[in-house]
Amino acid sequence: MSPLFLVLLITFTSATTQALAGGARSGHGRLLKSRTYLSPPISLRPGSVSNKWYSDVAFPRGHLALKSFNGEVVDARGAPVPLHETYLHHWLVAPYYAATTSGGGEERRRQRPNAGVCGGLLGQYFGLGAETRRTATWVPDPYGVEIGNPEAPPEGYEERWSLNVHAIDTRGAADRAGCTECRCDLYNVTVDEDGRRIGAGYAGGTHCCYDQTRCAVEGGFGGGEPRELFLRYTVMWLDWSDAAVVPVMIYILDVTDTALLEGKSEPECKLEYTVEECSPESRARNDCVDVKVTKEVLPRGGDVVYAVGHQHAGGVGTSLHGEDGRLLCWSTPTYGDGEEAGNEAGYVVGMSSCYPEPGTVKVRDGEALTVVSNYTGERRRTGVMGHFYILVADEQELPAPTKQQRPSSSLCFSFPVPWCVVPPWVSGYLQ
Ligand SMILES: *[C@@H]1O[C@H](CO)[C@@H](O)[C@H](O)[C@H]1NC(C)=O
Ligand SMILES: *[C@@H]1O[C@H](CO)[C@@H](O)[C@H](O)[C@H]1NC(C)=O
Repeated sequence: MSPLFLVLLITFTSATTQALAGGARSGHGRLLKSRTYLSPPISLRPGSVSNKWYSDVAFPRGHLALKSFNGEVVDARGAPVPLHETYLHHWLVAPYYAATTSGGGEERRRQRPNAGVCGGLLGQYFGLGAETRRTATWVPDPYGVEIGNPEAPPEGYEERWSLNVHAIDTRGAADRAGCTECRCDLYNVTVDEDGRRIGAGYAGGTHCCYDQTRCAVEGGFGGGEPRELFLRYTVMWLDWSDAAVVPVMIYILDVTDTALLEGKSEPECKLEYTVEECSPESRARNDCVDVKVTKEVLPRGGDVVYAVGHQHAGGVGTSLHGEDGRLLCWSTPTYGDGEEAGNEAGYVVGMSSCYPEPGTVKVRDGEALTVVSNYTGERRRTGVMGHFYILVADEQELPAPTKQQRPSSSLCFSFPVPWCVVPPWVSGYLQ
């Protein structure tokens, strides 16, 4: 990072904090609001796993435009818990519609997924994992994620929010990296969460580290006292205004969805995959990278206003391209190099996100996008992911100066300050 950039970043950060305290204005002068909530308590002892969905969690109510969602795991005193103690595999938040008249205690509900593209999977509105502390989720002006529209729920239903937190307590773990990669041998499980036998070919992934499983710990830690943790999350929003806020569609792409490449009509998102150790030949060529590529169709296009990749440890970069190969976003992981929460050595503590200059990065209706996810192949890793989260808005008439400012061949960002990079390989690794 250049010193200038750093200075600007600091200036921006402190400006935000101050402005917020005094009531920041965003989205054509509307008041930016912010509130911090705690999830229900998550009980974890050394080696244990919690992966629960919580219904009707605390969330801003009303017809709103969400502007950001930041979360982190904290202990009962509110102190941030580092990833080497509690690995945050992922958290997800999603709205749903619940029947306002309850029948028999069970909440009757209807799903309310995002715009796609994985069918019933990855339907969340926001979701990140270990990288959550250092990943920007800010939805740039004049855009916002529209929620709480009173007209939207079906008759007799109202909008509520669900939260999923998948956390793995790796204190005293026999093999900390193996536990976070959900290696089946370390969890000593033979059946998955639904009681189905785990195939011999499945070495690791979420089928082996589901709720209530235990990862092997060093002798002496076995048992261990449970402790209560929480996901502390801060939501920022504006009151909705048709005039001042432009709604965005949320899409989540998954590099494991090979349906289109195989000529199938329904998506087949497997959510995770295994990276094999690279061959001695590729190691000798100094080319020990696992490159995974797929194509997925975006049903409805528009302006890309924000994009970010999701990778696990071992990830070295993700990119998203249009049908002609043009770069839509390049998102790379940041690794920590210390002990403290937010900077844990060996963990992905952040993903860079893309803020294209408004109106300069467009996708067509039905365009087949290419997703690239690279991991180092220095050793085998199970349960890795390669997702891309993008926000797309209907095309807007933008003031002319904004449109002319930058050549469209470069990748530009408007956050935290306007800046551009020209990626080195735009011309077709894929063609
Ligand atoms: C692994 O599971 C088997 C059967 O479920 C059990 O008998 C064995 O003791 C377990 N091993 C460890 C190390 O917990
Ligand atoms: C992925 O790896 C390929 C091959 O080494 C490289 O050309 C490409 O730039 C990489 N992309 C990302 C996003 O890291």
